Amino acid sequence: MEMQLDKKEKYLFIETFGCQMNDNDSEKIIGLMSSLNCKTTDSPDKADIVILNTCSIRGKAEQKVYSALGRFKKLKKQRPDLIIGVGGCVAQQEGNRLLKRAPHLDVVFGTHNIHRLPDLIKEVESTRSRVAATDFFSFIEDEELFEYTYAKNGLENPIYMVKVSITIMRGCNNFCSYCIVPYVRGREMSRKSSDILQEAKKLIKAEVKEITLLGQNVNSYGNNGADISFPELLRLVCRLDGIERVRFITSHPKDMSEELIQLFGEEERLCRHIHLPLQSGSDTILKIMNRGYTREDYLNKILKLKMLYPGMAITTDIIVGFPGETESDFLDTMNLIKEIEFDNIFSFKYSPRQETMAASFDSQISDTVKEERLAILQETQMDITHSKNQEMLGKTVDVLIEGKSKTADGGAAILNNAKRNNAVNAITQLTGRTSCNKVVNLSASEEFMGRIAPVRIIKASPNSLTGSIWK
Ligand code: SAH
Ligand code: SF4
Ligand code: F3S
Repeated sequence: MEMQLDKKEKYLFIETFGCQMNDNDSEKIIGLMSSLNCKTTDSPDKADIVILNTCSIRGKAEQKVYSALGRFKKLKKQRPDLIIGVGGCVAQQEGNRLLKRAPHLDVVFGTHNIHRLPDLIKEVESTRSRVAATDFFSFIEDEELFEYTYAKNGLENPIYMVKVSITIMRGCNNFCSYCIVPYVRGREMSRKSSDILQEAKKLIKAEVKEITLLGQNVNSYGNNGADISFPELLRLVCRLDGIERVRFITSHPKDMSEELIQLFGEEERLCRHIHLPLQSGSDTILKIMNRGYTREDYLNKILKLKMLYPGMAITTDIIVGFPGETESDFLDTMNLIKEIEFDNIFSFKYSPRQETMAASFDSQISDTVKEERLAILQETQMDITHSKNQEMLGKTVDVLIEGKSKTADGGAAILNNAKRNNAVNAITQLTGRTSCNKVVNLSASEEFMGRIAPVRIIKASPNSLTGSIWK
């Protein structure tokens, strides 16, 4: 029975791990599969196809994939027709090894093979063979993929979305010594600016209010195949008719140009937030991490941002327990984070990754020490985040209201339904973000969903802000 997918409606259950690149890829997978008459479902029991879109950034993330695969073993036994696929960074890293390790797995597709998924699935269906596709391609497949995504997100039949991400570049050339990304995502490739702008315009037409330009190192945009620089692209997106907010992630400190810094003062729609991963405050460690900047370089860029744009939010990533990190290196990091006072820090214990340089360094740090350092750092940052949140008490800020808060049964889906049914008058728990990317919860009428509204902050806890609409 070949090409079953084309004839009968099927259901896809997809689980996404990892970063925004993966979230974005999952959107594309859903779009592609819908072109084969395959709809998404929240219930694996109902699914004909199960896809895990995986992350390999740390050992823990990779482990999650194997436990998820374990969960589907029983289901496959009950229903041998079920097709199970693994995509994303673990798929890229492991390839055929994954098929060997999990006999109930049918398809492995790497990070450059999303566009091939429908064909791979058809192949499995018709021949019952097991396939792994992990080739790297030297072109960006997004052009064809995004058409599918919009087929699903329906410009003809719009499903309401408040904010979306657009991939502007893929891969990474930096080879930080701890990081698996260059191995699993390949070399940097930039999309053409005209394609990105066309995609943005379509989204704006579909009532999207906020666009995030996405890439592993967005500042490198333009160095690899695109016609304009990242700040130029950002400016063009900010000036598109009808867009309310523009963000970007992630920037590399070594590539953050003066032009980009200036842009925050020139483009009103550019949100006042930057995520600028520091990784460590010690020059010795930064050097062996191969980060390409010093503590002083980093601090100077931050001081400039703070001076030019008081109130701008700055967030970062820190790795503790990198091989060779002494107590004094760690203190350098602690002192720097106390000096800078980040709005938020995503902090991680160093995790050795196969193929990377740092995994073979002799001076690995014990888990106990990593654990201790992580706890100290997180405790300090919690106080900083809390006091920053408290500074907002009594202030009125513009919040883009994204939907119902998670506690109030499921955000975006409800928003879609509410829009469709025009059932927009009930007071409910809503959630949104400030320009500085801080989450604000509030009770308000559903009619505020998808709008930017002035909100007075009435409560500030370490992890969240509560507000009320200010009329
Ligand atoms: N491209 C982005 C983010 C990469 S991954 C950037 O360059 O900043 C997100 C974060 O995961 C990194 O910033 C880093 O802090 C962390 N990370 C990456 N590899 C890691 C590893 N092997 N162990 C622990 N944390 C890691
Ligand atoms: Fe990884 Fe470094 Fe590239 Fe970021 S810049 S993805 S941390 S190699
Ligand atoms: Fe993970 Fe791959 Fe993103 S390793 S963090 S999903 S690029």
